[in-house]
Amino acid sequence: MEYRQWGRTGLKVSEVSLGTMAFGRWIDEERSIRVVDAALDAGINLIDTADVYGTGMDLGDPNRTGESETIVGRALRGRRDRVVLATKGFARVGTGVNDAGLSRYHLYRAVENSLRRLQTDYVDIYQVHQFDAATPLEETLGALDELVRQGKIRYIGCSNFAAWQIAKAHGISALRGWHRFEGVQPEYSLLSRGIERELVPFAVSEKVGILSYSPLGRGILTGKYREGEAPPADSRLAAGEKRLQLLLDSNPAYALVEAIRPLADRRGWTLAQLALAWVLSHSYISSAILGISKPEQIADLLRATVGRLSAEELADIDEASRRVGLFLP
Ligand SMILES: NC(=O)c1ccc[n+]([C@@H]2O[C@H](COP(=O)([O-])OP(=O)(O)OC[C@H]3O[C@@H](n4cnc5c(N)ncnc54)[C@H](OP(=O)(O)O)[C@@H]3O)[C@@H](O)[C@H]2O)c1
Repeated sequence: MEYRQWGRTGLKVSEVSLGTMAFGRWIDEERSIRVVDAALDAGINLIDTADVYGTGMDLGDPNRTGESETIVGRALRGRRDRVVLATKGFARVGTGVNDAGLSRYHLYRAVENSLRRLQTDYVDIYQVHQFDAATPLEETLGALDELVRQGKIRYIGCSNFAAWQIAKAHGISALRGWHRFEGVQPEYSLLSRGIERELVPFAVSEKVGILSYSPLGRGILTGKYREGEAPPADSRLAAGEKRLQLLLDSNPAYALVEAIRPLADRRGWTLAQLALAWVLSHSYISSAILGISKPEQIADLLRATVGRLSAEELADIDEASRRVGLFLP
C-alpha cells in the first residue's frame, strides 16, 4: 500500500480507502466487520462513513439512518487509533424541520450523534456532505471551527462542492482566521469525469486534498452488469440501489465497459483493476474511496495498485471514452 499526502496538510492517507455506505444497508454487520479486517490487513488507513448511511437511503425513510456509523464504531473497538476516521453530515436524518442541513443547530447535533455511534471522542475528517444554499457559509464554517477547537474534529472537508463554493468558503475562513476546508470528496471514475474541468485545477492550485468516491462506478466498471440481463443475485443492483440504476440508465455505461475491456486484457487485469488504476494514475487524487461488499474484493483489486497507466494508455482510454459518446471535460 502506498500513502499520499492529503492536500496541504501533514496527514498521510492510503491511496485506496474504505467506504462503508454498504454497511448495514446491503451487507450485514458480520460481513461488514470482515471487510474492515481485510482493509486494515491490506494497509488501508482511511475509513469513510456518513451519518445518513443506512437502510433508509433505499426505503426513503429518514429515521432509518446511522447503521453504517454504528457498525464502524463496533468494528474499530480497540483499534480506533489505527485509522483516519472520516464521516459526514448534512443529509436528512429525521423528520424534524432541523434534522438536515448545515445550520449550527443541526451540525452540533449531527457531530454528537456521529461520535456516539462511532464510539469515539473525535472524528479525524468531518465533511459536510453537500452545499446548503439555505444556510450562510459563515454559520457553517463558524460552527465547524468551534468543533475543531473543542477537539471533536481534527480537520474539516466538504463533499460534492463546486470549486467556487470552496473558494468562497476559503475566503471566509481566511478573513475570520478559521480552519478551512482542507479536502473535498467528489465522485470520480471513468464514468464520471466532470471534476476535471474546474474542481481538479482549483484543488491543485489551492492544495485541497481530493478523496474521490465510486472509482468503480458503483460496480458498473467491473463489467458485472450486462444490458438486458438480470443483475447477479449477490450484487448491489439486485439489492436495489437507485443511484446505481440511474447511472446505468443515463450513461453509455455498457458501451464504455466493452470499449475498455481490450485495454484491461492487454495488461492482464480485470476491468475493476483497470478502473481503479485509472483513478490512481492521477496524482491529484489523495485517495480513491472504494466500496467493498465482500472481503475478498480488496485483495483482488489491490493487485492493480502495483501499476500505473502510461500516458499512452491514458490517451487510449480517452479515445475509447469519446468513441462511445462519453462527455470529457
Ligand atoms: N460523498 C458522497 O456523496 C458519496 C457518494 C457515494 C459514495 N461515497 C463514498 O464512497 C464509497 C464508495 O462508493 P461506491 O460503493 O459507490 O464505490 P465503487 O468502488 O465505485 O463501487 C463499489 C462496488 O463495486 C463492486 N466491487 C468492488 N470490488 C469489486 C471486485 N474486486 N470485483 C467485483 N466487484 C467489485 C461491489 O459491488 P457488489 O456490491 O455488487 O459486490 C461494490 O458495491 C462509499 O462507501 C462512500 O464511503 C460518497
